Amino acid sequence: MDAAEQMGAKITSGPNWLEIKRGAWPLKGITLDCNHIPDAAMTWAVMALYADGPTTLRNIARWRVKETDRIAAMATECRKLGATVEEGPDWITVHPLPNGKHNNASAQGKWKAASIHTYDDHRVAMCFSLAAFNADQVPVRIEDPKCVAKTFPDYFEALFSVAHSNTQDIPVICIDGPTASGKGTLASRVAQALGYHYLDSGALYRVTAYAALKAGLSLEATDEARIADLARTLPVRFEGDTVWLGSEDVSDAIRTEQAGMNASKVSVLPAVRTALISLQHSFQRLPGLLADGRDMGTVIFPDAPLKVFLTASAAQRAERRHKQLISKGISTTLDSLRADLEARDARDSSRSVAPLKAAQDAYQLDNSSLSIEASVDQVLTWWQAKQPF
Ligand code: DC
Repeated sequence: MDAAEQMGAKITSGPNWLEIKRGAWPLKGITLDCNHIPDAAMTWAVMALYADGPTTLRNIARWRVKETDRIAAMATECRKLGATVEEGPDWITVHPLPNGKHNNASAQGKWKAASIHTYDDHRVAMCFSLAAFNADQVPVRIEDPKCVAKTFPDYFEALFSVAHSNTQDIPVICIDGPTASGKGTLASRVAQALGYHYLDSGALYRVTAYAALKAGLSLEATDEARIADLARTLPVRFEGDTVWLGSEDVSDAIRTEQAGMNASKVSVLPAVRTALISLQHSFQRLPGLLADGRDMGTVIFPDAPLKVFLTASAAQRAERRHKQLISKGISTTLDSLRADLEARDARDSSRSVAPLKAAQDAYQLDNSSLSIEASVDQVLTWWQAKQPF
């Protein structure tokens, strides 16, 4: 706390709380004996990047014998970000990087996009998350962020809940494709691997159709305006695998074949599609979004940096859906399933507004003979190739 104050932060406190505000900016470079606070001092090595001069932390020999050799780790990773760093057996000096319009005369070098190795060390991960606030908006990746579990499992969730970013800077990966192509499974697995949010846009059309029928409406154009009104204020909530409509758990009700067909019907209505746009956009939150549907890459998130169009043969898709239903104890025939999904594809592809089609810049992925893991790996590989690291 004292050190943060010396660096320029404004701190007020009470019996069981601290409030820390920006004071001096750039921060002030300091020289500090860290004998009594070796662990917390790691934070200052990254704060030092925002200072007006070099920061030297002394008496930190114990850093070398912690989760990892933390002096070497802090030095290596700060250098990756572009900083000049000197280190000795028990000290480290970090020189600041430029701070945009609050520039610091003694800054050396410039911010570089970097993928930060975290050495299975929770403190390295947490400290370097501060590098993401650089004025040049250079992207910073924290590898293996789950290593924070040791002391602060939801550290990144907490950080993202207070951090702000321009919406257009929040990455979106779109996965579009026909019925039962496995989009949902693929998108939610990739979301999990990246720690991103997940939007199942099909569920919004399913819930809309469900709410419309419950309100006694038909799913035809005659009731378009009223269905659109419902969609605009749809009290839908996703909690893990559970989908809520107000206080009603509709998870199972919206997953039937009939519910899919009903969703396809309301999704043809232009006013309904328009009514659902802002709800879909609201899912674009830090740290990123996986969105699956029919028009994610073409209409809803046209600037998404990665778009995938997922396909599989109709025979394969019908077979997968058949297995799924049988395992739930629902009896059906392959032929009728295939006829249904072809009918749904035909309607989704031929409607006038936002029809199912691949975005021009989408990668095509045919998963007919791929395992789920192989499809996930493929999308992660494409995503990795888009990173500036
Ligand atoms: O992905 P799904 O099977 O849950 O989608 C149900 C229907 O909703 C689908 O047949 C067409 C419609 N839909 C749409 O028009 N646009 C989307 N982005 C997602 C689904």
